[in-house]
Amino acid sequence: METVSITMVEDVAVLTIDNPPVNMGNATLRRDLYDALGAAGPDVVGVVIIGAGRHFYAGSDISEFDGPLIDPQLPAVIEVIESLPVPVVAAISGLALGGGLELALGCDGRIGATSARLGFPEVTLGILPGAGGTVRAARLLGVPTAIDLVASARQVDADEALELGLLDHVVPAEDLLARAVDLARSLAGKSRLRDRSVPHANPEQVEEAVARHARKARPNVLEAVGMVRRSAEVDAGLALSEERAIFERLRVSEEAANLRYLFFAKRAAAKALRGKVAPRPVRTVGIAGAGTMGAALARACSGAGYRVVLFDTNPAALARVAGAMPGLTTTETVGGLAGADLVVDAVFEDMDVKRDLFAEVERHVAPGAVLATNTSYLDINEMSRSLEYPRRFGGLHFFNPPDRNPLVELIRAETTDDVTAATLADVVKALGKTGIPAGVGDGFVANRVYADYRTQAEFLVEEGATPEQVDAAMVQLGLAIGPFAVADMSGLDIAWARRKRIAPTRDPLQRYVDIPDRLCEAGRLGRKTGAGWYGYPDGARRGLPDPDAVRIIEEARATKGIAARSIDDGEIRARILASMLCAAVQLMESGVAQRASDIDVALTEGFAFPRATGGPLRLLSRWEEDDVIAALTAAYRSCRVTFALAEPATRGELPQAVRAVLRQVAPHEMFERAASR
Ligand code: 3HC
Repeated sequence: METVSITMVEDVAVLTIDNPPVNMGNATLRRDLYDALGAAGPDVVGVVIIGAGRHFYAGSDISEFDGPLIDPQLPAVIEVIESLPVPVVAAISGLALGGGLELALGCDGRIGATSARLGFPEVTLGILPGAGGTVRAARLLGVPTAIDLVASARQVDADEALELGLLDHVVPAEDLLARAVDLARSLAGKSRLRDRSVPHANPEQVEEAVARHARKARPNVLEAVGMVRRSAEVDAGLALSEERAIFERLRVSEEAANLRYLFFAKRAAAKALRGKVAPRPVRTVGIAGAGTMGAALARACSGAGYRVVLFDTNPAALARVAGAMPGLTTTETVGGLAGADLVVDAVFEDMDVKRDLFAEVERHVAPGAVLATNTSYLDINEMSRSLEYPRRFGGLHFFNPPDRNPLVELIRAETTDDVTAATLADVVKALGKTGIPAGVGDGFVANRVYADYRTQAEFLVEEGATPEQVDAAMVQLGLAIGPFAVADMSGLDIAWARRKRIAPTRDPLQRYVDIPDRLCEAGRLGRKTGAGWYGYPDGARRGLPDPDAVRIIEEARATKGIAARSIDDGEIRARILASMLCAAVQLMESGVAQRASDIDVALTEGFAFPRATGGPLRLLSRWEEDDVIAALTAAYRSCRVTFALAEPATRGELPQAVRAVLRQVAPHEMFERAASR
């Protein structure tokens, strides 16, 4: 057997799972476990299942979920455990997730090391537990707790698992095996969860749990919640087969396939970031700038266990942050950052300000310290040129709000060396963020794509759509809010300042919509001023269509002699997606983005583009080729300069570069369809 070894501890058989890196359940492991369980002879009084390495069993191998599942499937393995005449104990250290937790619930006893973490992540993959998770959790924990665990996908630590009853005992790691063997011996026969009745719960508690998780939930979460409830009403055998049927249906759904695509896309980006060299250890992070961004970064770093030193010349700003974060070290001089292993800037977005800051930081920090700028748009290569040691410098681009937004772009300047890049990647991981690699280019990856999204949205309004119509069309795609509501929320002034800055170098042939300038000139800077694309009367949180904004839009159209026409939602979405596609192709061609899937990760993680779609590129890769061509044609016609690369579409051709990008992200069946044409 490749992945399971059997050893005897006196009369107890110990099955050790060893399937690196995370003991995930693939066809080989299931076969090996099945065979090993079957090999338990008549002289065995109990069985222990334990993981070699850090984790017990991190769940099923989801790369197998795209095709038909190979026998024996997990429910069959669990059936063998349940049909053995002797007790089986799961000895859990590290992770027992998804199928791993289901395997443990199929055992007669569960003992955890203090490192144990248990959970059902299935709903985040567009499915529900498919090997008895809903059925056995309901019988062990009661319906409300089972709903909470299954629908939230949260991981519980050993202490909470003990409290809930998911674990029978928690012991130090070094005692885990011995105590599991003792438990296997001391259990008086089988204790199958499927034979237990569901603990009584009062109906209000159940309804409360349902209400908590059903709000805004994806359809698969609702099915998971429903399945937990249903499993309490019918016998376990029927519930198990119903759960499996739903699992199978969801597993092959488009949404689940997209979520798996994103899972592996994130891992591919992380792998590219890691590189091959070891990172430098980082214990203390210095943050320069105590504004909103700096404060949130300080929170994120300190939450991840770093010592944080916050620098600002403004004592009032420091005091504000320190007041909310006890234990934070602050300094009013750059010298106070001397002990930092990494210094990140969160100062004003201005080349000279940042250059001066890093020049001074370099004079104080140790030679091995790494420096990173959090610039959104400035040229990092140019910034690095004024440094004495540019090799240890790179970009860490966080997204607002950085303590909650998961995306970070890691930007390598021309001079950034491998150790610096590996160190920054290590920090991104420690912060629990999703990192993607990016090269130097205007707006890097996510903002660059978003810029063309917004530009196209403005074209549409200039031609006759209303802001609320564009927003609604995008919300219908699954976004939480549309581009104009976002602009109002973040404030129109930053983009205004940027437009002024780049005005001298703008291509005069490029279409330029001056409506946002007109809004800003009228003092409509967004929600904070009570007006922007929308009006916010009496401090309203949601914008309302505003006659003054309508007038400004109409004036702008009139000045350019544009007669407003009616534009349908399909055209809005097609043009916006095609514009994002053009931006993505340019990013790939310039090398600023390394993989098309990184762009989908950037948009879903950083800008809340609906994960269920897999991201804008994955979404388009599922379209018929003719529809992509039509969308690109419409984008091209909206501006022949900005979307020049879409020109072949006007002749009915899909540009080669576009095809190459879409192929990278397309589901396999799409290749087959394209190949058969
Ligand atoms: N399927 C396939 N590959 C997986 C995997 C899985 N469930 N879990 C991890 N991997 C792979 C990763 O792709 C990565 O491969 P790579 O090195 O080639 O890129 C490698 O294992 C290590 O993973 P990470 O880089 O993510 O390692 P970390 O230590 O950062 O994280 C982890 C480990 C927390 C286990 C994380 O990988 C994770 O969250 N995995 C998913 C766990 C999960 O969702 N399990 C449930 C699956 S669904 C299920 O069980 C259905 C059941 O109900 C029938």
